[in-house]
Amino acid sequence: MAKNRNAYQCDNCAATLSKWAGQCPECREWNTVNEIVTQARPSGRFRGYAGKLGNEVQDLASVGDATVARLAVGVGELDRVLGGGIVPGSVILLGGDPGIGKSTLLMQLTAALGQRVPGLYITGEESLEQLGMRARRLGLKLDGIRCLTETSIEQILGHAEKEKPKLMVVDSIQTVYTEELSSAPGSVAQIRESAAALVRWAKQNHCCVILVGHVTKEGALAGPRVLEHMVDSVLYFESDGDSRYRVIRAIKNRFGAVNELGMFAMTGTGLKEVKNPSAIFLSGHDKPVPGSVITVVREGTRPILLEVQALVDPSHLNNPRRVALGLEHNRLAMMLAVMHRHGGIALSDHDVFINVVGGMRVSETGADLPMLMALYSSFRDRPLPDKLVCFGEVGLSGEIRPVPDGEQRLREAVGHGYTTALVPVANAPRKPLDGLRIVGLSHVSAALEKVF
Ligand code: TYD
Ligand code: MG
Repeated sequence: MAKNRNAYQCDNCAATLSKWAGQCPECREWNTVNEIVTQARPSGRFRGYAGKLGNEVQDLASVGDATVARLAVGVGELDRVLGGGIVPGSVILLGGDPGIGKSTLLMQLTAALGQRVPGLYITGEESLEQLGMRARRLGLKLDGIRCLTETSIEQILGHAEKEKPKLMVVDSIQTVYTEELSSAPGSVAQIRESAAALVRWAKQNHCCVILVGHVTKEGALAGPRVLEHMVDSVLYFESDGDSRYRVIRAIKNRFGAVNELGMFAMTGTGLKEVKNPSAIFLSGHDKPVPGSVITVVREGTRPILLEVQALVDPSHLNNPRRVALGLEHNRLAMMLAVMHRHGGIALSDHDVFINVVGGMRVSETGADLPMLMALYSSFRDRPLPDKLVCFGEVGLSGEIRPVPDGEQRLREAVGHGYTTALVPVANAPRKPLDGLRIVGLSHVSAALEKVF
């Protein structure tokens, strides 16, 4: 029997070392050497590979469709992000800041699913009493929720073999460790080996495993990058500062689209789904104010109304400030350049702040035109007309370009009582929409003239 032995490897250059070092002697990187498990090669004469085949080569057409067995969670917003539910045998990594509500969400999920399939909630962070207290506070049905406090991966999988769950939550991957390694739980090597064992187990037993992952100060998932490659889906649970709204988004999803958002509000009795997110991201001025523009962005399959705010103020600094919250810094710089070249407005001696209300992050280009309008409106200190929405991409030559699903966005605006829409010409619908005046725009210079 081949004997396991401990070795060390550099995460940067993959050099193998016999003992740990702070600096890799090969590539000279610091803190990249980590413990790995290696297996000694069996001795004996080489007899070829064909004698020890495991899996068979198959025709792809003869392979069954695994997605038909998708299991709807029963929490609509989570199902939306997952692409319709969890897939048996898949591994999901859920990351998020401390206190954001990861454990709460997963407890609610285990309880919602627990009535239909056997679930197992494993925690290395809390005691069972704490779990019980939380579940009671959430008003969950307690029978059927199987839980365990354990951090050794060997013990966890031992229990899992006995319990045969179809959903297993491990809270968190940073607290579990394998007895085969001597390094501390939470170290890169421990996370990698424990996650690998859990992934293997999930695939073999057709059990969906959800791992909770801590995030670092910079907002990335703590631990090795390879963790994100190992799992099938990576979800982030995030919120803006002290807002009670939470957004869950998929960064990676092997079984669905990645641009869907799920929205929750944290209440005294746990997380509640937010089914109509448009209403919460508007600041609710009675009458229009300078620098504020309502836009419709599309996140996944759902249009959402958002408010973009700008403040343009004379600066006394040599380097005037450029601050973008919720929008991309580079796109702000681009809009300022477009405004200068095609609108004749130089803001080089002004501080410029731009913000999306409610802590939403917008990454799509449809927010270009609203950003530009908000900047102009603040600069001139003149509000836009009441009940106006706008969206559209702005090109470097000042042209206004269409964005996908214009009509769907316009319908959302109509549904919330908006009466005027500034849209790219190509996004103007052929048939008029009830109660909505549509202004088609093709160039920035014309747009600024038309509106102000
Ligand atoms: P938790 O799920 O423990 O966060 P995580 O596992 O991501 O660290 O959530 C903790 C926070 O949520 C805590 O600050 C209190 C708040 N909370 C509520 O507001 N209402 C509730 O019903 C629960 C259970 C938690
Ligand atoms: Mg927790």
